[in-house]
Parts: sequence; C-alpha cells; structure tokens
Amino acid sequence: MTSTTNTKKKLIEVAIPLEAINAASAREKSIRHGHPSTLHMWWARRPLAACRAVLFAQLVDDPSSDPGKFPTPEAQEAERKRLFGIIEELVVWENSTNEEVLERARAEIRKSCGGELPPVYDPFSGGGSIPLEAQRLGLPAYGSDLNPVAVMIGKAMIEIPPRFKDKQPIHPGAKDRQFYRNAEGLAEDVKYYGEWMREKAWERIGNLYPQVELSKEYGGGQATVVAWIWARTVPSPDPAFANVQVPIASSFLLSTKTGKEAWVEPMVDKQAKTISYRIRHGGTKAEIAAAKEGTKAGRGANFRCLMSDTAITPDYVKSNGRAGKMGQTLIAIVAEGHRTRAYVAPTDMHRTLALSAKPAWKPEASLPNDPRNFWTVDYGLTTFGDLFTDRQLVALNTFSSLVHEVRAQVEVDASAASKSSNTAPLRDGGDGAKAYAEAVSVYLAFAISKLTNLGSTVTSWMSDRGALRETFARQAIPMVWDYAEVNFFSNSGGNWSTPVDKISRAIADFPASGIGSVKQVNAGEVIYEAGTVISSDPPYYDNIGYADLSDFFFCWLKPSLKEIYPSIFGVLATPKTEELVATPYRHGGADAAEKFFLEGMTAAIGRMADGTAADFPATIYYAFKQSEVEQEGISSTGWSTFLQAVISAGFSVLGTWPIRTESPGRLIAKGTNALANSVVLVCRKKEATAEIISRAEFIRALKRELPPAIAELQAANIAPADMPQSAIGPGMGVFSRYKAVLESDDSPMSVKTALQLINRELDEYLGGIQGEFDADTRFAITWFEQNGMGKGEYGTANSIATARGISVDSVKHAGIVESAAGKVRILSRDELAGDWEPESDGHLTVWECLQHLVRLHEKDGISHDTAVLMKKINTQAEAVKDLAYCLYDISANKRKDAKEATAYNALIADWTELTKAAAAIHDTSGDRQIRLDI
Ligand SMILES: C[S@@+](CC[C@H](N)C(=O)[O-])C[C@H]1O[C@@H](n2cnc3c(N)ncnc32)[C@H](O)[C@@H]1O
Repeated sequence: MTSTTNTKKKLIEVAIPLEAINAASAREKSIRHGHPSTLHMWWARRPLAACRAVLFAQLVDDPSSDPGKFPTPEAQEAERKRLFGIIEELVVWENSTNEEVLERARAEIRKSCGGELPPVYDPFSGGGSIPLEAQRLGLPAYGSDLNPVAVMIGKAMIEIPPRFKDKQPIHPGAKDRQFYRNAEGLAEDVKYYGEWMREKAWERIGNLYPQVELSKEYGGGQATVVAWIWARTVPSPDPAFANVQVPIASSFLLSTKTGKEAWVEPMVDKQAKTISYRIRHGGTKAEIAAAKEGTKAGRGANFRCLMSDTAITPDYVKSNGRAGKMGQTLIAIVAEGHRTRAYVAPTDMHRTLALSAKPAWKPEASLPNDPRNFWTVDYGLTTFGDLFTDRQLVALNTFSSLVHEVRAQVEVDASAASKSSNTAPLRDGGDGAKAYAEAVSVYLAFAISKLTNLGSTVTSWMSDRGALRETFARQAIPMVWDYAEVNFFSNSGGNWSTPVDKISRAIADFPASGIGSVKQVNAGEVIYEAGTVISSDPPYYDNIGYADLSDFFFCWLKPSLKEIYPSIFGVLATPKTEELVATPYRHGGADAAEKFFLEGMTAAIGRMADGTAADFPATIYYAFKQSEVEQEGISSTGWSTFLQAVISAGFSVLGTWPIRTESPGRLIAKGTNALANSVVLVCRKKEATAEIISRAEFIRALKRELPPAIAELQAANIAPADMPQSAIGPGMGVFSRYKAVLESDDSPMSVKTALQLINRELDEYLGGIQGEFDADTRFAITWFEQNGMGKGEYGTANSIATARGISVDSVKHAGIVESAAGKVRILSRDELAGDWEPESDGHLTVWECLQHLVRLHEKDGISHDTAVLMKKINTQAEAVKDLAYCLYDISANKRKDAKEATAYNALIADWTELTKAAAAIHDTSGDRQIRLDI
C-alpha cells in the first residue's frame, strides 16, 4: 500500500490480523454479561474488539517504516508477526480488563508515538465503542454526537467513571474493603441505591402487582407473575355483535417447548356475547396449529372475528384504532412456577386491577410519521406515551420520581462519608458529594430506559423461549397485537433489578482512568485540536433513524436528567434537522434526502480530513445495509457513494479492511455473497499536489500495483472471503492518489467504475495464478468449475485435457478423477486414501496436496496430522495456498457451494497457525523432500 505523505507508515496501512479480529468480533455478539453495551441500548454498535484492534494498528508503526531496525522483508515480517501477536491477545474478550495485556499494547503505542499518547476523537460516537476503547488503551478519549441519548451514554462510559476512580462506595453499611479498583465503588452504590428504589417503589405501587393462584398441575399455591398477556381488541364488524370487543391476536401460543406445550383457548358464548379464555396444555397437532394462528386471517392486520367469523380488514383496524375504539383483553398470565413457567387463565381481579392504574403523566411527544419504521401510528397509537399500559406508566413515573429522591439521598450519604468540599455539579467537572449523587442517578435513569425496552406494549411473548421479546428487537417500532406486559417486580427478565445489576457490572469494568470527554456537537461543526487522531463510525445513509428511535428513551431520561444536564435534556425531543440520515419523509422525498446526506457527510468528513493529525491515518467505518451486500455486492451504490464522499472530502483511501460478525459460510448458505457487513477505511489527507490521469493510465497503474498488493494480502493469509473487500484498499489507493481519473470524454471516473475495474483486476489475478499450476491441476480446476463433484461427459473431459497437453488417463493416474462408462468425475475427499504419502506419490499434483490437506483440516482442524502433512508439502505450500484461493472463488461465487467454499476459507484462516505447527515438528520422517511431478 502506498502512503501519500512522508510520515511513518502505520501497521493498519500494511496488514492486520483480520482472522483474529473477526473471530473476536463475532464472538462478542454472544457476550451478555458485563459487556459495556449492557449499559444502555444503542443501535448498530461496532464490536469493541474491532475498535480496539483498529486503534492499536492505526497508532503503531509498521516495521517497514524503520528500515534501520528492520532492514529486510523477512525482519519486517517477523516484527509484524510480533505485533499481530499483541493484537491477537488484545482482542480476546476476557482480556478487556487484563492490565498486563493492555499495558503491553499501551507500551507499544507509546514507542511508536515518541512516548506521548495522542488524543483520539470520534465525531459520531453513538454508543461510545471507539472512545471507550481509546480510553482502555490509555489514550485521551474524545467523542461527540448530535443525539442527547448517545452523548449521555458516552459520558456514562468514559467521562463520569474516571471522576470517581478507586473511590469507596458511600452507602450505609458499605463493607470496609481496603481497595476499590476503577469505578467499582460507584458500581456498588448504583446497585445499592437501585435496590433502595425497588423497595420504595414496591411500597408505593406493589398493590398493582398481585400474585396469582397456581393450579394443582403446577403444584398449587401463590406465584409471582412474570407477565400478563394481552390481546388488542376492536368492536366486532358484524352489526349483530357491534358492542362486543373481539381479540385481534397474532398467536395464542404460550409455550412450544416439547412436553410443555401450552396455549390459550378462547371460549365464545354467542348467546351471552362474551369471550373468555382458558389455558390448554398439550393438545393435538391441529389444535396447536390453530392456536399458532391466533385470530389471524392473513398477513398484516387481517383478522377474523371470533363472534361472527367475518373478516376484520387492516382498514377496519386502522379506523377503529384512530377513533380510539381499540382496546385490550387479558388472555393469559405467565407466572414463576416451581422451576418452570406456569401459564394461568386470566381472572377478573387481575384484569380490573390492571385497568385501575391512573398515571399522573405520560410522554406526549409524537411518534414520527415514518410508516416504514413506526407502524403503530396508523392504528391510532400516535405518541410515545401510547406505547405503554397505564400500569406501566404509573410504574415508570414512580421510578422516575425515585431517581430524584435517590439523588437527594445519595448526596446526604456521600456528604456524610466524604471529606471532599467540591460542590460543583457533574456537568462542571465536580467530583464531590453533589456530583456523585448526580452520577449515581444518571445510571439509575439508564435502568429506567432498560426497563422500558422490555416494559412497553411493543413487547411480545416468545413461546419458544418462554421469555419476552424486547421493544427494539429490530431497529423499528412495529405493531404488536398480543403484547406481554412485564411485571417490574418479578424475579425474572424484565424486572427492575436485572438492568440495575447489569449496569452496575458494566460500570465496574469500565477503564475509568485518564481523560474522557463526550459532548453534543454536530459532526459538521467539530473543531479538532491539532494532533488529533480520528477514528469514526458515521451513520449509514438511511439504515437507522437514530433520532426518531431514541425519542423512545429520551422522553423517559429527560424527566430524570434535565436538571443535571439542562443543555442536553432541556429540549422537547432529540434534534432531527441536522441528523445525517437520508430520511425521505423528513426531507420531502428520496432525492432531497440523498442530497442532504451526501452534502452533510462530505462536509463532516471534510472536517475530519482537515483536522486529522498528519502523523497518523484516520479510520472510518462503513456499515453495509444487509440488502445492499446481498443484492449489489462489491460496487454497491451505497458503498461507492460513501467512498466518493470520503475522497471528495479530501482523503486518499489506502486500506479497506472487512470486519465481519458472521461466518462467510453462513452467508453463502443463505444464498448471498460472503461479503463482510462492515469495512474500515484507512485514510490519509490527500496531498495538495495530486495530479490528474487518464483512464488508460489508471488501468496501467492498477495492473502494475494491484498484483503485488494482492500477493501481499495473500502472504498475510487474508481469508479468501475477505479478499474482495481487502483488495479494494490498494486499488482505491491508486485511484484516490490522483486529483481525478478522466474518462475518454474528459468526465471524471466515478468510484463505482473504479471499484468495478479493481474487482476485474482481482479476478484476472486469481485466474492468472492458475497458469502456475501443473497441467492435471489445471484440468481439475476447469472440470470443477463446470461440474463440481458431479459426473460429466468423457468427450468434454478429453477436450479439456487435450487443451492442456495431457489425457484424461493422466488425470486419472494422478488420483484426481474417476473415469468409467463414458463419464468422468472428480474424486471426493472422502474417497481419498487415508494413508496417502506425498513422498511416495509418483504422480504428485497441487490438487491432491490441497485436497488431502483440506480433508485432514476438515476432520481434525490444526492437529498434529494436519501439521505433519503441511510440513511434507512444504516446498509446494505457496502453490497449495494459491489453489485454495482459486477454489474458494469458484465455489463461493460461481458454484454457490457454501460447504465447499467454507472448507477452503477455513484452511486459509488457519494457515498461519498450521505453518507454525508444521515448523515445530522435528520428526525427520516428515522432513523428507518431496518434488512435484510437473
Ligand atoms: C453508526 S452510529 C455510531 C455507533 C458507534 N460507533 C457505536 O459503536 O455505538 C452513528 C451515530 O451518528 C450520529 N449522528 C447522526 N448525525 C449526526 C451529526 N450530524 N452529527 C453528529 N452525530 C450524528 C447518530 O446519532 C449515531 O449515534
């Protein structure tokens, strides 16, 4: 990769251990306890492992920039491997708080930065991943975001905890523990006062949360309710039953767990014009299938009336919803049984008590008029307050007012416990009793946010898991017909104590040291201090409407926090006008929205290009929309438009590293291409002297520079699935080095065209390396591309063989194909001899070497046997690796064979480890030289 400045090249401009970073990023998705994201919900967070590795590689010198110390390519490679080792340790989730590992990384950064750690700034900080990881690496960490909720999350992650580093908790009865690390004291107080709030809330509103009587089959007795299951209702469309509210339920299933099936059976009394509900267990297949349908009569809001069997159309539901005639009926109660969920029929007492709740306040802010993402508006639920039951509103109001009470209480307790005379509030840098009380209340206000995510009427019951599906299971607010109203005081998911506990655990693990600052600023107006390193993850086009979605939380955070941060929470709702999201409804159409987004993004990135430190590259994440990678691939419109904005803003793009959280095999199996869902762009400010070249000159430069760059990526064992996105980096490096590339009509070449040309070069490169293989292998590649492992005509095989100067018999003799009865087919790996020895194979081919290696790797992974074989084919290892790249490309992209593609991808992913393991084998029987029969 070529740099446009004379400054030192950083590791990220040359290579990064993608496989380790991606494996850790994928694994992070399943970490549920203690992950910083459990502090507060935010949409489309980047994996912390990726942010950490990217920052490290952005700051640490590549060995090639110190030729005095690393004079040869071998010495540089060895040093790169050492740095990779540090990254491989750094990205492991369990090492997030391992001081030894972190300190090793910090020392390495210091070495590359002249002993001084530069500040890092993320102008789109969102859920705070990048600034948090900067702080963890010991760097002064800065972030800003337009959105108040995001700003508050950022402050709670990196700004507040260092203020109270290593402090003892102040709650009454705190244990006399000698040492509190980082923000552990604060974490303990959040938990203590959270529990205090629970007790107070129970005293005030516990009467609204009665227990339920269990039937004999559940062991009898009283049990705590987990959730009340309600179905929305509309008046029957049949005039004969016009005053009967009938349920519109998408399902009556409660439990689909084998042996524990439970469902709701509606009992219709046409005479009395009533519908009651009982719980059924077990049931026939037909009964369960019927229960699964609820009262649905098709997709969307199509239902049937239980009283009259007449159709209930979407228009009918909408008009009744808008007219305020939509109601709800209690259809089941889920309770905490004896080591199992118990499903109980509704009672009048439970129904009446729920409906008796009278909230003093509800959020009046309107839901946005965005039918794509906010579905309830059409049905008459038009304000954020409409998304809650009255009982939920009463409880949320109670917890909100308790946040104020807890703040006063903590201040009293903290004053009694501490000698600090600092009376400044949190927002002015305070760290005394007042600021501490405010800090505790910030985290407890977050607990209310978490409560709302499981505590609205957009929350449904998952009958397969016996748990609640949260409001934001997707990045939208859908209409839920049968919703689960959670009990905030149960011992199960959705209660108050769980978020308090999770928040407390997250706080205890925050780095809580050094400088951390997050402010509310429009990215287009950020002023960067000289020497700032930029790493950022901007919003992607129209993917997520952060401002609209976050109003759901904002309206509950505001009452609790506006006194503490009046400038952030003193507004009616989150700012929308400057938000860089292409929202057609906000900008009066798709074209206007696109123009707004492109201009705004180019301006914001332009600021980054002007503000970025000359000594370091900037990194910018680009997140693909799912449908975009699936349908358009490598030169998709969104991606090329974004790259165009980055280049027009004054950056040269020097690297593009794919970051994936899903395995390529799974993606191919789903029928999509295996591209990663996000890419990190490595950029440097474009040199002022950049010149203009023609299309022909650009292609010549690509042909000259891309093959060695791809070979370098291969040498770094970039997995085949990651190659198309990784190869864009050096290709774009060529394109964006110039002021413009002109087409034959003098118009500037678009990024989309450049991407297509880069991809064509990659294809040619992969096709070209085939020429290096032995003739039998070249036959096998062509045959495999046409037939896979299936049979084909002998005549065709003969023509292919003859064109390569061999015969079908030769390929058969090489042990690659079977030829019989006029048909030819490639032998599958299962058919290969288990005791095959390359040294004694008189007709050895690259094909066989690869297939035997894949066979062992598929069977045992990086085992002794695989390593021994690797050692035996040592002299041909590079050719075998090249063939794996070729066969991946054919399997994934031409034959769409996920299983086969995954086998080659997995081998390359383990190549480095396998090479190490092979090198460690000293058994001379495995050392015998082998030669290919070419
Ligand atoms: C992709 S998210 C960042 C996610 C973050 N990296 C994380 O891991 O949580 C993009 C962010 O850009 C913010 N944003 C949108 N328009 C903005 C603007 N004009 N100025 C600053 N931030 C903006 C959104 O509020 C959102 O938080």
